[in-house]
Amino acid sequence: MSSVKTAVFPVAGLGTRFLPATKSVAKEMLSIVDKPLIQYGSEEAEEAGISKLVFIVGRTKNSIIDHFDKAYELETELAMRGKEDMLKIVQDVVPEGVDCVFIRQPEALGLGHAVMLAQAAVGNEPFAVILPDDLIYNAEKGCIRQMIEVYEKHHASVIGTQTVSMEETHMYGMVAGPQIEERLAQVEEIVEKPSPEQAPSDQAIVGRYILTPAIFDKLKQTERGAGGEIQLTDALAELRNEEPIYAYSFEGKRYDCGSKIGYLQATVEFALQHNELAEDFKEYLKQLEL
Ligand code: UTP
Repeated sequence: MSSVKTAVFPVAGLGTRFLPATKSVAKEMLSIVDKPLIQYGSEEAEEAGISKLVFIVGRTKNSIIDHFDKAYELETELAMRGKEDMLKIVQDVVPEGVDCVFIRQPEALGLGHAVMLAQAAVGNEPFAVILPDDLIYNAEKGCIRQMIEVYEKHHASVIGTQTVSMEETHMYGMVAGPQIEERLAQVEEIVEKPSPEQAPSDQAIVGRYILTPAIFDKLKQTERGAGGEIQLTDALAELRNEEPIYAYSFEGKRYDCGSKIGYLQATVEFALQHNELAEDFKEYLKQLEL
């Protein structure tokens, strides 16, 4: 059994980069081929042995709650029509033994604020944080499973990181520190959305974290930072003064599905791997003669 049992999904952001699509539909309900982003995230957590999913939702996110709820009418209808394979797809959205908890973030005060709201559901235990618009593909071992293994070895918070170009540092939390193992560095500096001149390295934080519960006290003391929001990165910078934090350069391919180009890249690449679609889609792309 995994030592990390809970995953928090902060999905209460406004999703402004996808307006008007996200005016009334949650960004995390946008689908890559036939599955919403949020479900890629929940499956990554389940693959890592996590059994409690905590969703921090905003006002326009009821579709997320519905997606993880039982769909009585649909299930009854599919059963009556003998569509067993479809019924299984619907029922597998929440596998046996997995519990879902939903918490409202009344105002979009930032990622740090959203994570803070999960405290009662998480308790005094380490937990994962997954931002589903960062879609990370690894067929062998999911990103969160890799990071839990690092946690189990070092018993400290672990941040998922990736190398980015210096022009992009202003879009990410950036970290720096000495390498201690392959793919693993100890965090010495951590800063939210620095300019290229102020960035401590080219290592960017992406949407995966394993956090110790000590983060909650730090979040309570964190004031609004970049963009007027309560930043998780600022609380991590405080936590680092008391506990070691590690940066883990995960194995896998990340798609930034919070941006239109990343979303399209994921759509094309997932379609090219899809059992039913791959051949037809390849043919279609060839015909486009790009
Ligand atoms: P983003 O910075 O991607 O913001 O948030 P966003 O609102 O989702 O999208 P854009 O930039 O306006 O298009 C990072 C993560 O933090 C969550 C978001 O839902 C996303 O998963 N978040 C952000 C919250 O849950 N609450 C907040 O107040 C802010």
